[in-house]
Amino acid sequence: MKTTIGTDTAFAASLLRQGQLVAIPTETVYGLAANALDAEAVLRIFEVKNRPAFDPLIVHISSMKGLYELATAVPELAIRLADSFWPGPLTMVLPRRNHIPDIVSSGMDTVALRMPAHPFALDLLAMLDFPLAAPSANPFGYISPTTALHVNDQLGGKIPYILDGGPCSIGVESTVVGVEEDRLLIYRMGGITVEQLREVCGQIEFSVANIHQMQAPGMLESHYAPRCPLELGHLAELRRLYSGSKLAVLSYRGMVATGEDVVAACVLAPGGDLREAAKNLFAAMRELDNSGADLIIAETVPEEGLGRAINDRLRRAAHRHGYDM
Ligand code: TXA
Ligand code: MG
Repeated sequence: MKTTIGTDTAFAASLLRQGQLVAIPTETVYGLAANALDAEAVLRIFEVKNRPAFDPLIVHISSMKGLYELATAVPELAIRLADSFWPGPLTMVLPRRNHIPDIVSSGMDTVALRMPAHPFALDLLAMLDFPLAAPSANPFGYISPTTALHVNDQLGGKIPYILDGGPCSIGVESTVVGVEEDRLLIYRMGGITVEQLREVCGQIEFSVANIHQMQAPGMLESHYAPRCPLELGHLAELRRLYSGSKLAVLSYRGMVATGEDVVAACVLAPGGDLREAAKNLFAAMRELDNSGADLIIAETVPEEGLGRAINDRLRRAAHRHGYDM
């Protein structure tokens, strides 16, 4: 199949109406989209991504009407969160209506909903009379794409069209939360920070889901992993420990001194801005993964704001072989 990259939202809409897949830009990462109400089309997403069927998808909408059409119960807290953060990088898990095909939510009785903030995605959704199921547009378990070229590198030849909306402005996936009347459960750290959620939730209890609460969700440890092994820790120590290997170095703000052992290096945010670090993270991981190094060594960033999502992705990239975090 020939893959075209372009900016024609009307063409993207016509393909989606025919049940085809289109990669779409969002503010977080690129998504691999299909008609969420067409089980056949959604099945193709799983095939193209090589994604196990137990990992449910996010359904994208462009209006509050979509929320009521897809969820059976919308708690007051969900409305407050939508008012504050939609369109934007927040996904809410709510009880689902029955016309959503089982494959979208892996047979669970909930559905994950998000209103993305990218103008192309919103235009596209407004042209369609169905919502879009869209996981990140990468092969299962690999680093998420933040440019149209990243998508083309991996899914080129497998999908007809990539809608090019430029580099993603946030750069890490949405924060996924389960919303109940008086409780918020964070399934995945992402573009909306814990601090931002606290401000809106006030006294409401909230907790971070642990691995045992995540039979289904794509909270698999090995997510977001480069092919090259990645070690997380203190850069100078790691460099000593692995002297003799060809290293690629991923640092937060400080440039490392290069040498014979270092074949590539990326600095996430020389000015120490965590938003910039998030935006650069996945492109940097890809670049280092393709550098020919034997090992990527990386350091965590401050555990605050978007730093939590960045560290989460780094830890997952480092834990390629199981649930041992
Ligand atoms: O930023 C994003 O969220 C991007 C863009 C394209 O919107 N999408 C994305 O999709 O990251 P994906 O499929 O790579 O991740 C979806 C996450 C997974 O962790 C999945 O397990 C979780 O959402 N999820 C989906 N449905 C769920 C449900 N019913 N309950 C709990 N978690 C759910
Ligand atoms: Mg993903």
